[in-house]
Amino acid sequence: MRKPFIAGNWKMFKTISEARAFAEEFKELYRASDVRVAIFAPYLQLAALKEAFCGTYIEVGAQNMHFAEEGAYTGEISARMLREIGITCCIIGHSERRQYFGETDETVNRKLRKAFQEKMKPVLCVGESLEERDGGSAFSVVRSQLANGLIGLTAAEVSALVIAYEPVWAIGTGRTASAEQANEMCGFIRDVLEELYDDSVSCSTVILYGGSVKPENAGEIMNMEEIDGALVGGASLSPQEFIQIVNF
Ligand code: PGA
Repeated sequence: MRKPFIAGNWKMFKTISEARAFAEEFKELYRASDVRVAIFAPYLQLAALKEAFCGTYIEVGAQNMHFAEEGAYTGEISARMLREIGITCCIIGHSERRQYFGETDETVNRKLRKAFQEKMKPVLCVGESLEERDGGSAFSVVRSQLANGLIGLTAAEVSALVIAYEPVWAIGTGRTASAEQANEMCGFIRDVLEELYDDSVSCSTVILYGGSVKPENAGEIMNMEEIDGALVGGASLSPQEFIQIVNF
């Protein structure tokens, strides 16, 4: 059984004190349920959030990690560094990293392998650009992001993976993919997983939709058969909005 998963991606927002204030307010609003909840925050805020959410079921994750064990990679953070402060989940391959920081399917693949080696639970992001959607290549783009990103991963690893389908044209634009469009691509991702692995992997991998998810559209998105959850950017910055999505 796939568990619903609502994840907040704070991107480069909030200082440590703002993160603490969010946590205090969110804890007041949050009631444990069978929905998995996580906040993916900037590195500096992770320890403060771990402490603030200690004793709750709210998870805290990183937005990126490096694929090397350690080394001369100025400005980077390793999986081991994250593990030491109790961080066990991490977004990998977000479209903003692909777009602005040179992330490729190859680096995504190396990061995914390292994440599993270090017992981290990765959230892999895939999704097409507007030109690709309009040009009719959305499905082949997502297929190749998966085929290249998952090279060398075992069926057990991919079953434990969370995949977030985030069409680049719907991120931060207020232009949400329709629930049907999102569902169609999430179903397609399951077909690709079945092709690359097998039916049981395709049925057990948790697949999220991301891109302008708000309290107003969360219910409709969560009702779709192939969609298990949401990766929420802008609306995860407000405890009041995020809790409404968690309680979809
Ligand atoms: P958004 O961002 O909800 O602000 O569109 C989603 C994401 O980039 O994960």
